[in-house]
Amino acid sequence: MTPLDYEFLRKLLRERSGLDLSSDKQYLVESRLIPLARRGGLSGIVELVQKIKAGSEALTSEVVEAMTTNETFFFRDKIPFDHLRETILPALLQARASRRSLRIWSAASSTGQEPYSIAMCLKQFGSALAGWRIEILATDLSLGVLEKARAGIFSQFEVQRGLPIQMLVKHFTQAGELWQLNADIRAMVQHRQLNLMQDFSHLGTFDVIFCRNVLIYFDPDTKAGIFDRLAKATEPDGMLVLGAAESVVGISDAFKPYPERRGLYRPNANRAPRPYPAARMQPALKAVAAR
Ligand SMILES: C[S@@+](CC[C@H](N)C(=O)[O-])C[C@H]1O[C@@H](n2cnc3c(N)ncnc32)[C@H](O)[C@@H]1O
Repeated sequence: MTPLDYEFLRKLLRERSGLDLSSDKQYLVESRLIPLARRGGLSGIVELVQKIKAGSEALTSEVVEAMTTNETFFFRDKIPFDHLRETILPALLQARASRRSLRIWSAASSTGQEPYSIAMCLKQFGSALAGWRIEILATDLSLGVLEKARAGIFSQFEVQRGLPIQMLVKHFTQAGELWQLNADIRAMVQHRQLNLMQDFSHLGTFDVIFCRNVLIYFDPDTKAGIFDRLAKATEPDGMLVLGAAESVVGISDAFKPYPERRGLYRPNANRAPRPYPAARMQPALKAVAAR
């Protein structure tokens, strides 16, 4: 790969997915894209870049997808799910008692462990949520991870990471070496492709947004723009949940930390009003595919 090819790919990835690669990540790009090029019958990255420049939208999407990091596991970091059970849901049960509906968004849901962990937490509330309209929306840029998430089939290794044994027994059915998530939990989650770099105002507003371990790969300006738009998508008394290594502090005043609950944020009501923030996207990008 020539330095110019690397610069071209860096710019493309930043614009298309928000991924902010430093100047020394050639090895990462090569390790992900050389196998992709070879699978497509291309000699290597130079030819792959030529095809993208010639306008191959399909190949561009494959490159963007190949560069995503999809690491996830059930009840990742544990504390956000304790907050969900002990702080967020009890507050919302009261606040939404007359409306009896909840909307929760897992905004970079990968292979589904996060939205399904949320669904299992909600199930624990049993009759307290009986008759409520519960919506859990799981979105991700990558179609590959969404397909796996929809299937709800996990390996022994995947269910051993973070999932308490009682939950495994209660919510999964063993099929040989795999574990199928039961239909009642699967039915609680809707999966859709969505790129956070694109406008998502059409999704409406949510009571809780989980946006974990994705903004960490973005530059500060891109993060700030997404925080602005996430704030518009959060109910005034709703919550944003970020990953363990993520924060709004020093990046955006669209949210303020929830006292004594690490990783939890509320929309900042005292912020000066501003116009609806534009997504930083080019028109060529594929429209959000609602599936
Ligand atoms: C490291 S995983 C995090 C999964 C889950 N939130 C968690 O914390 O376990 C990051 C996910 O973000 C997705 N992603 C990356 N860029 C994105 C973008 N611009 N819009 C939406 N999803 C994106 C990737 O495809 C990947 O599945």
